[in-house]
Amino acid sequence: MTKIFEIATTFFAYLKRPDLYPELRRKIWKNIFNRSSGLRGKDEAEKWCQDLAVSEKDFIENVLKTEFVSFEKIFPQDFEQAVLAQEKTPVKMGGAGSLSVIYYINEFVKSQSAIETGVAYGWSSFAALASLVKRNGTLYSSDMPYILQNQSEDFVGCVIPEKYKNNWELFRFADKESLPKIFEKTNTFDTVHYDSDKTYDGRMWAYSLLWDKLRNGGIFMSDDVGDNAAFKDYCERNGRKPHIIEFDGKYAGIIIKD
Ligand SMILES: C[S@@+](CC[C@H](N)C(=O)[O-])C[C@H]1O[C@@H](n2cnc3c(N)ncnc32)[C@H](O)[C@@H]1O
Repeated sequence: MTKIFEIATTFFAYLKRPDLYPELRRKIWKNIFNRSSGLRGKDEAEKWCQDLAVSEKDFIENVLKTEFVSFEKIFPQDFEQAVLAQEKTPVKMGGAGSLSVIYYINEFVKSQSAIETGVAYGWSSFAALASLVKRNGTLYSSDMPYILQNQSEDFVGCVIPEKYKNNWELFRFADKESLPKIFEKTNTFDTVHYDSDKTYDGRMWAYSLLWDKLRNGGIFMSDDVGDNAAFKDYCERNGRKPHIIEFDGKYAGIIIKD
């Protein structure tokens, strides 16, 4: 009964948002014909990640050849303000990954143009922007609202310091609609951070599209790559050599584009 109520509430919430109808159609299709996409190959992916994983410190020092100081120690005041901003929100949204890795990959490639999928409170956006603003660069973000929380849209990106917001462009649609709109603005990126639709098929669709827009020497990052086998399969099928980073019991995948 509760499940039926949840499905009905979600459906009616989507009906109020014509801009999200394409995503509603995809969700209905997925729930009828492709329910296994979220966890496809999870066991093999987790094992693969465990075998390859290093800490964020090891990755930053050994691969990026930079001394590791954690993100919150580099920006203590802004970080403290961000924590307070999140505490004040009445909504619960998705959590952050490794802010240090996001910050240092943007530093490593001297990023001026970055793209991310999935914003929520904006922790990853905060970390990328902390680097981008040094070069007056831009972060393009795609984020679909949490459909069941009316107020959530007001708080998307709420932890991003105000002083960074001139360097941030947010597209509030599902990735399938946002990404083409972002590519109309700019077509090449120095870094990519994928943290939105975590299904196997959602990742596979976005990974190849985003990879093609990454410049040579740029860095591709995806969060939660142990959740299913999409990142592993993508790397194996395309001959990519990934770095896997363990952080907070989860895995992020990184590929440097040669
Ligand atoms: C894990 S949270 C992002 C966390 C953020 N990157 C951070 O580190 O703070 C995932 C976000 O992706 C959004 N999302 C989920 N599916 C999406 C889709 N198909 N298109 C765009 N955004 C999506 C969710 O609404 C949520 O805001």
